[in-house]
Amino acid sequence: MRIICVAGARPNYMKIKPVMDALEARGAEVLLVHTGQHYDPAMNDVFFHDLGLRPPDRFLGVGSGSHAAQTGRVMTAFEPLVEEIAPDLVVVVGDVNSTLACALVTAKAGPLLAHVEAGLRSRDWSMPEEVNRVATDRVSDYLLAPSDDAADNLRAEGYRDDQIHVVGNVMIDTLFANRERARQSGALAELGVSEGEYGLVTLHRPANVDDPDILAGLLKGLGEVAAHCPLVLPVHPRAAGKLHALGVPGGIRLVPPAGYLDFIALQAGARIVLTDSGGVQEETTALGVPCVTLRDNTERPITVEQGTNVLAGRDPARILATAVRLLDDPPPPRRPGLWDGKAGERIAEVLLEGGTAGTRPRPT
Ligand code: UD1
Ligand code: UDP
Repeated sequence: MRIICVAGARPNYMKIKPVMDALEARGAEVLLVHTGQHYDPAMNDVFFHDLGLRPPDRFLGVGSGSHAAQTGRVMTAFEPLVEEIAPDLVVVVGDVNSTLACALVTAKAGPLLAHVEAGLRSRDWSMPEEVNRVATDRVSDYLLAPSDDAADNLRAEGYRDDQIHVVGNVMIDTLFANRERARQSGALAELGVSEGEYGLVTLHRPANVDDPDILAGLLKGLGEVAAHCPLVLPVHPRAAGKLHALGVPGGIRLVPPAGYLDFIALQAGARIVLTDSGGVQEETTALGVPCVTLRDNTERPITVEQGTNVLAGRDPARILATAVRLLDDPPPPRRPGLWDGKAGERIAEVLLEGGTAGTRPRPT
């Protein structure tokens, strides 16, 4: 079976790697297509190096742009590639613009389409990712859900049971595969921080970083947390300009975006993590590290119900109160079912035994 695997932005690489490995181990012919949505060495190259991901077979080089421009450029570049390669199946992961763009092209071109991380819903339509998730699921043949709550969302939306497969969380496969290597990374020593004595922050959601007033409010809350526990903030390029222009309160250190192994080491060693990232909510849950999510909602409720995550929103007083509560009384570590490092294997099993475009019922 010939399969195109798509990746293009930071959170895609750790999700696609275990899927590619498991497919290739079972004899599939796999081609990695990189859309180029992220391109800075710190947002891209370092992940290929850290994860041992082989160089992409094809690179679309789309770069940054408005949602329409970026999505359209990926579609325009991906369409002739699908025609040339003629895959049996295309695998997309997550919820970025590259995910949706390649899903739409595939749905019209004919190959089967598999969505890894199907069924996640924040129910917040102001998030571009929510549009990408819902629309990608709608045109997918295989809905590969990380958890039961995601499968429940899909059933509630009317998807057939034969489309839905609860396979576990591929991001956690990669985390477990690299936890020991991350321990050797030296990231804590390089930053001069000690295990259990600092907090780690990430911020990149448009709703948090695009409006300087909202960002200033978040920084006020984080500054108050830093009075209890010094904070390290690896800066996402979307937030860089505004963070440097606003300046940050004392106790918060801005550092460049971290590579994968360094960032896992920083999460594992942190006393607390404060974030608006989707993946980081899951990784902190798997690592048993307290997490304060700087959003009012999450598409990953399992990290709240069965993990260490607490939603704190954007109000500075609530951020401080939540962080202080977790610092004083950390939630017990728990790990959701099927977060066992074998999601990639289960996905390969489903996809390679699932039939071909001629034999499978398509989305209804
Ligand atoms: C994208 C995803 C988001 C994901 C995030 C992971 C969408 C709609 N958003 O958000 O879901 O959580 O990636 O990090 O797909 N930039 C650089 N260098 C880069 C990449 C981006 O400087 O290598 C800057 C550019 O100014 C760009 C901006 O960051 O305009 C935003 O990049 P973009 O890929 O559009 O969205 P992200 O905010 O990164
Ligand atoms: N990550 C990283 N370096 C950083 C910040 C995040 O390696 O400086 C990793 C993190 O461990 C997780 C992934 O990037 O594996 C999450 O990506 P991001 O937060 O950019 O996107 P989201 O998950 O919100 O879509």
